[in-house]
Amino acid sequence: MRPEHPIVLITGASSGFGAAMARLLAAQGCHLALGARRAERVQVLADELVQAHGIKAFAGAVDTRDTASVNAFVEAAAASLGGLHVLVANAGLASGTYKMWETPDEDLEAMMRTNIEGVVKTIRAGIPHLRKAGWGHVFFIGSTAGHQPYEGGSVYCASKFGVKAMAHSLRLELNGEQIRVTSVDPGMAETEFSNVRLKDDTKAAAVYQGTKPLTAFDVAECVRWCLMLPDHVNIDEMLVKCLDQASVHKVHRRA
Ligand SMILES: NC(=O)c1ccc[n+]([C@@H]2O[C@H](COP(=O)([O-])OP(=O)(O)OC[C@H]3O[C@@H](n4cnc5c(N)ncnc54)[C@H](OP(=O)(O)O)[C@@H]3O)[C@@H](O)[C@H]2O)c1
Repeated sequence: MRPEHPIVLITGASSGFGAAMARLLAAQGCHLALGARRAERVQVLADELVQAHGIKAFAGAVDTRDTASVNAFVEAAAASLGGLHVLVANAGLASGTYKMWETPDEDLEAMMRTNIEGVVKTIRAGIPHLRKAGWGHVFFIGSTAGHQPYEGGSVYCASKFGVKAMAHSLRLELNGEQIRVTSVDPGMAETEFSNVRLKDDTKAAAVYQGTKPLTAFDVAECVRWCLMLPDHVNIDEMLVKCLDQASVHKVHRRA
């Protein structure tokens, strides 16, 4: 049975979806392990949520590309909170909008190491704790980019198609155990994502101009809903876009 106060580990909790999930799940009484490279941000958020909701929270620095860093973060979180029930492998990024033949190594490595390797490392470290608890839920954060490739996004799209494949494989591997596996796959959402991708705040703002994109809380709500369903119900994949985005290539913009 789902514990009354699930212990939820979220990577990439310093911003965007991860921070919104922390806020929404804290309000539901979940205990939280929050990680990102910007440790001071997650510490401020954890302190605020402990104060506001009386939950337990652990905050730590983690670079999901680095095995030792991930293992240390996960073990410290589990020790501090008394175990783990839910893993949200959310940390990720797009870097640039290069044609495939233009992609610099630095951006290629940032995306593949974070979006693929970081996700494996996080789940690999966390799974023994879910098994020990006898109840668990693993969330992948995929993307519409993992459903429909687009020009200027070959590596990011490849990484999110990879996320989709990993979620499918993990679900097969865990079949028969009380550990659910869900991939929440958002379309265009206004977070720091485009600032990181384009490295230019003016260009990032233009991505959303004239539209009403998803907010981080819209995506956090999808995670909350999947988590709160009865134990025998598993949402495999949730593709969620704002109404203005009919597809990757068709976005309605008001004048
Ligand atoms: N926004 C969108 O339109 C959109 C759509 C579909 C999917 N997504 C996916 O949603 C996830 C969250 O993105 P977001 O929109 O919330 O973007 P965001 O606001 O830029 O947040 C990204 C988070 O990932 C963390 N992160 C990045 N690299 C990391 C690393 N090596 N180690 C640890 N943490 C790392 C960042 O923290 P630090 O920099 O502090 O480490 C930050 O907390 C990503 O996987 C992204 O691909 C986003």
